[in-house]
Amino acid sequence: MKFRFLMCPPDYFGVEYSINPWMTGNLGNIDPERAKKQWQSLFGSLSNFAEIELLRPLPHLPDMVFTANAGLVREDAFIPSHFKHPERRQEETHFRKWFLMKGYRLADFTGPVRFEGEGDALFQPGNNLLWMGYGFRTDLQSCNLLKKMFPFRIITLQLVDPRFYHLDTRFYPLPGTSVMLAPAKGRVMYYPGAFSEDSLQSIEEYFPARDRIEINEEDAIHFACNAIAIENNLILNHVSPALKIRLQTLGYRVILNPVDEFLKAGGSNKCLALSLTSN
Ligand code: ARG
Repeated sequence: MKFRFLMCPPDYFGVEYSINPWMTGNLGNIDPERAKKQWQSLFGSLSNFAEIELLRPLPHLPDMVFTANAGLVREDAFIPSHFKHPERRQEETHFRKWFLMKGYRLADFTGPVRFEGEGDALFQPGNNLLWMGYGFRTDLQSCNLLKKMFPFRIITLQLVDPRFYHLDTRFYPLPGTSVMLAPAKGRVMYYPGAFSEDSLQSIEEYFPARDRIEINEEDAIHFACNAIAIENNLILNHVSPALKIRLQTLGYRVILNPVDEFLKAGGSNKCLALSLTSN
């Protein structure tokens, strides 16, 4: 199959510490059976369109289920994450080992620079462009280092609302669809409410208004942007009637997969699967 993702079963998933505002107030508040069902349902939906690789979960690493934070994959290269919070740093060696075992080239930058993988770095499908978020987890310096290592263009976006601490919680570059003539630069679905002024301007300079799907706060806090698109199939946790109509009009097939147990840890569908294919 053309698309491949990496997932990690939620055997040890839980909210055992608080490193983002969603986790505060949810310590110990996960229903493991419900979480397993929601994860299985995502696995099932994704399997219809993509091949899924599985990483063995490990005890005491409750956030390892969020494989999008393992790093970033570009062709045969794996750029591993360096987590900001000590609570997640132990995951790093396990992710690295898996990618080395699979024959990936490790494109690492040394030093104390923080980088949280696809959580803060999203490619614009079909374009040689990487959107990178900084301000909470990933350092601006890692964007500069990546620029030196890879020939793709990088546009940095400053995140200023702690509820949306990773770029992928409120910004999602969309592929074109066959229904509507696909715009060459692609589209984006995003919550404009909490980017810095300069960053909003960068988004508006890149995409003409018709290709920007702005979502409201209600959709944003239900992680509508934390979606997974495979061609015109779009898997998301929540969608308001107005957003659904907008997406469908553009030719996207909306597939709902509620994952509210994972929202308690500050993640949704997109965070639960790391893309292994560059498109
Ligand atoms: N509890 C995790 C953390 O705060 C959630 C990670 C969500 N992942 C993502 N790609 N946004 O690190």
